[in-house]
Amino acid sequence: MGQAVIFLGPPGAGKGTQASRLAEELGFKKLSTGDILRDHVARGTPLGERVRPIMERGDLVPDDLILELIREELAERVIFDGFPRTLAQAEALDRLLAETGTRLLGVVLVEVPEEELVRRILKRAELEGRSDDNEETVRRRLEVYREKTEPLVGYYEARGVLKRVDGLGTPDEVYARIRAALGI
Ligand code: AP5
Ligand code: MG
Repeated sequence: MGQAVIFLGPPGAGKGTQASRLAEELGFKKLSTGDILRDHVARGTPLGERVRPIMERGDLVPDDLILELIREELAERVIFDGFPRTLAQAEALDRLLAETGTRLLGVVLVEVPEEELVRRILKRAELEGRSDDNEETVRRRLEVYREKTEPLVGYYEARGVLKRVDGLGTPDEVYARIRAALGI
């Protein structure tokens, strides 16, 4: 039987950082929709050309494109980073997990106050130059998170799978909390 973990949380919360480490230590595949999309943009594929302006604005890429990527990349043991992000994506994922007999081990909600999110992202902007890491787009990404993605907190809470984790502190401290919350 397959196994899956979801990382949920606002931009800059540390989802990617923590999902990478957990995937490596547990031998899971990390499936980050943001990373896959950025790779398409960097390679200039037709999908990349289509999503580039959307990502630069800080808006969400259409659900059907995302679901196609997920179906292509799904693995037996998988950690989702930045997916699902809308109720439609969450419902589609539920169906996909049921069809493939995959058990959801937990949904980790990484919680970080807004001023710290902005601080982290603007610091990364200096180091990496991600095209959506600027003050204006960060505000839009946060707004989109509150509007489209935050409703998933209630969705997963109602299913009894939500694990709230304090995302403040060092990456090691946060990681230990995640392992404890998942009990793995
Ligand atoms: P995506 O790539 O998913 O970006 P995001 O959700 O905005 O989040 P980030 O990657 O910025 O933050 P993170 O939580 O991963 O934190 P990280 O570990 O990097 O999405 C980008 C875009 O793609 C979207 O806007 C959308 O357009 C599109 N997209 C992607 N998925 C989609 C979907 N499912 N549906 C529709 N559209 C989709 O950490 C942030 C920084 O903080 C790093 O520099 C890190 O080193 C640092 N850091 C990490 N932990 C700590 C710590 N404990 N203390 C201090 N600093 C820390
Ligand atoms: Mg990320």
